[in-house]
Amino acid sequence: MIFIVDLLLMLIDLTYSILTAIVQTFLRPRLKCIDGELCLITGAGGALGRLFALEFAKEGARLVLWDCDAAANEQTAKLARETGAEVHAYTVDLSKRQSIYETAGRVRAEVGDISILVNNAGVVAGRRLLDCPDELLERTLLVNCHALFWMTKAFLPQMKAKNHGHIVTIASAHNANSLINSFKFGHSDVICFNLQDYCASKFGAVGFHESLTHELLAEDLDGIKTTLVCPYIVDTGMFAGCEIRKELKNLIPPLQPLYTVQQSMKAILAEQQMICIPRLMYIPFLTRAGKLMWDFCFPSLDYCLGRQTWQHIASWEVTNACCLSSRMLK
Ligand SMILES: NC(=O)c1ccc[n+]([C@@H]2O[C@H](COP(=O)([O-])OP(=O)(O)OC[C@H]3O[C@@H](n4cnc5c(N)ncnc54)[C@H](O)[C@@H]3O)[C@@H](O)[C@H]2O)c1
Repeated sequence: MIFIVDLLLMLIDLTYSILTAIVQTFLRPRLKCIDGELCLITGAGGALGRLFALEFAKEGARLVLWDCDAAANEQTAKLARETGAEVHAYTVDLSKRQSIYETAGRVRAEVGDISILVNNAGVVAGRRLLDCPDELLERTLLVNCHALFWMTKAFLPQMKAKNHGHIVTIASAHNANSLINSFKFGHSDVICFNLQDYCASKFGAVGFHESLTHELLAEDLDGIKTTLVCPYIVDTGMFAGCEIRKELKNLIPPLQPLYTVQQSMKAILAEQQMICIPRLMYIPFLTRAGKLMWDFCFPSLDYCLGRQTWQHIASWEVTNACCLSSRMLK
C-alpha cells in the first residue's frame, strides 16, 4: 500500500516538475539581489576566480578573497576595490585543513558571516598516473575535493542559523562522465592529458554538491541555495596543451573565461542548482535520469533513517532531470 501511495505521489511530483520545467523554458528567471552580501571566493588570484570577484563586486557584494598566491590575490583585490567594492584578502593554503579553519575563524571575527561561498580554487597534476608523485595526486584531491568539506563546515553553521546562504561549487565537465572523458581524452586521436586525479576530485565535488543539496532539503533549509558549475575546457591555461580532435574543434572550442563566469553568474543569481557550459555538456548528466529508478529501489540513508521521504528524494531527482532538459533547450 505504502509503495502504491509513494508511486502516486511521485507521479504527481513528476507531472508538476515537467510542467514547471516547460514554463521555465519560456520564462526569464528572476535574478536575486546580492547587494551587501558577504561573498567568499577561493582561488581568487586565478583566472576564473578574479573574474568571479569582479562580477560579484559589480552586483554590490562585499568580498573576501582567498588564495595561496598572495600577490595574485592582492592584484584581484586591487582591481575589485577600484570598482568601489569592500574587499578583504587572505592568504590561505586550501590543502591544509588547519589553515582553512584558522583563516575562517579570522574572517568571522574580522569581517563577519559569509553568506555566499564560491569554492572555485582548483589544481591539476596533469601527469600520467604512474609518473605522478603521490604528493601531487594528493594535493589535487585535497584542494579540489577535501577543501569543500572544510569550507562548508566552517561557514554553513552561520548560514543555517539564519536559513540564508548560497554555496557554489566549481566542478568541471571532467567529472563523473566517463563518456566525456573518453570522448575527449581517451581517444587515440586526441592529444591527451592525464586527468585521473582531476576527474576523481571533480567527481567528488559533484557528489559533495548533490549530497549537500539533499541534506539541506531534508532539513527544510530552503533559504540556503546550492549551485554546481560544470564548465568544459576554459581558455585559462589550466589545460594548456590539451587539444580535442580537429573535426570537433569548431563544435566545442575552449570556452572564453569571461563568458564562462558570466554564464555561471546568471545561474547563481537565478538560484539554479546546476549549470553545464556549454549546453552540450548536459547530455552526459541527463543519462543519470536512471538514478531515479535506483533511488526508488535503494532509498538513501536519510530515507531509511526516516529523515527524508522518498517523494522528497524522487522529486529532487525528477526536478533535476526536468530542469536539465529545459536548460538544454533554452
Ligand atoms: N580552466 C579550465 O579549463 C577549467 C575547466 C573546468 C573547470 N575549471 C575549474 O575552475 C576553477 C578555476 O580554474 P582556473 O582556470 O581559474 O585556474 P587557475 O589556475 O587560474 O586558478 C586557480 C587558483 O587556485 C589557487 N590555488 C591553487 N591551490 C591552492 C591552495 N592550495 N590554496 C589556495 N589557493 C589555491 C591558485 O593559486 C589559483 O589562483 C578550478 O576549480 C578548475 O578546476 C577550470
